[in-house]
Amino acid sequence: MPENSKYKNKKPIYILGIESSCDDTAAAVLKDGKIISNKVANQVIHEQYGGVVPELASRAHQQNIVPVVDLALREAGIKPKDLSAIAFTEGPGLLGSLLVGVSFAKSLSLALDIPMIGVHHMKAHVLAHFIEDNEMKLPEFPFLALTISGGHTQIVQVNNYFDFKILGETRDDAVGEAFDKSAKIMGLPYPGGPLIDKYAREGNPKAYKFPKPKVPGMDFSFSGLKTSILYFLQKQTKENPDFINENLADLSASIQYTIVNILMDKLKLAVETTGINRIAIAGGVSANSGIRKALIEAEKNKNWKVYIPKFEYTTDNAAMIAIVGYLKYREKMFSDLNLVPKARMSLT
Ligand code: KG4
Ligand code: ZN
Repeated sequence: MPENSKYKNKKPIYILGIESSCDDTAAAVLKDGKIISNKVANQVIHEQYGGVVPELASRAHQQNIVPVVDLALREAGIKPKDLSAIAFTEGPGLLGSLLVGVSFAKSLSLALDIPMIGVHHMKAHVLAHFIEDNEMKLPEFPFLALTISGGHTQIVQVNNYFDFKILGETRDDAVGEAFDKSAKIMGLPYPGGPLIDKYAREGNPKAYKFPKPKVPGMDFSFSGLKTSILYFLQKQTKENPDFINENLADLSASIQYTIVNILMDKLKLAVETTGINRIAIAGGVSANSGIRKALIEAEKNKNWKVYIPKFEYTTDNAAMIAIVGYLKYREKMFSDLNLVPKARMSLT
């Protein structure tokens, strides 16, 4: 018998990942670290309210979760009994939304007698860089992660899969909120971040100058920017009620330029302070073309190594939950049935 035959016969490890922390219900299947299916059901219901309505989100998760998991398993070509473990988002997020994923995971774990693995949502955004995908490079440890989403803005030193140190974070709004609130002031629907990104492509980033906050160290602040945009637009629309419509592209480009500059200034400081020049971005806002462009330029001009996730792994998805599930499964880091979802959850 060949020496490695026991490996050949080894059963593959299939992890089902479930994400339900906010307004997307997502399920993915991972086979030995490789994504074999990745499904998301977006909730459009929130658009008309200008933001996520928690009660509606949790109801929609309840409706979506079984069909989305079923679809993910079918696309993966496996049956529930083939699963090795179920990974799910434990927090942070909306409690009612998290509860749907946690309850589902507990039921499936009991029914199939497989381990369940609680996953930190923001760690999953960072560790999405370790999804085996030919189009993505794997970051080397230690690296700096800029986590930018609708709920978070942090610079984190990642020493290994499970050792994270926060170097700086926002003192008020998250960067995604800065995008979404600025968009709302301009009358755009929720979520406005991708729309600002879209209109910014046609505009002049230096058309309007918005102040950058003076926050010491690697911390951020975005609430002042929102207020200055509000006052500026109130003044302009008094003189010309059509001001926003006529200047949407320039306004979007200028807002995006300011936000990207704030992020880049702090990243530069983080690189200088730590001496680490490997930078990974994570979270929904890493889909933004302005931040991607600025990082690619820094890779050329500053000798940084930059890691940008594939578009489908930037906004909320279950592939990132499944990869953390896989990493924890290998270390037997399982959760027990007493686990409760957590609206707030520290990264460290
Ligand atoms: O990570 P994510 O999907 O959900 C949270 O965990 O918050 O991030 C959502 C945030 C929203 O604020 C959305 O407007 C923003 O990411 N976003 C963008 C872009 N795509 C998503 N912001 C700016 N430009 C984009 N292209
Ligand atoms: Zn997220």
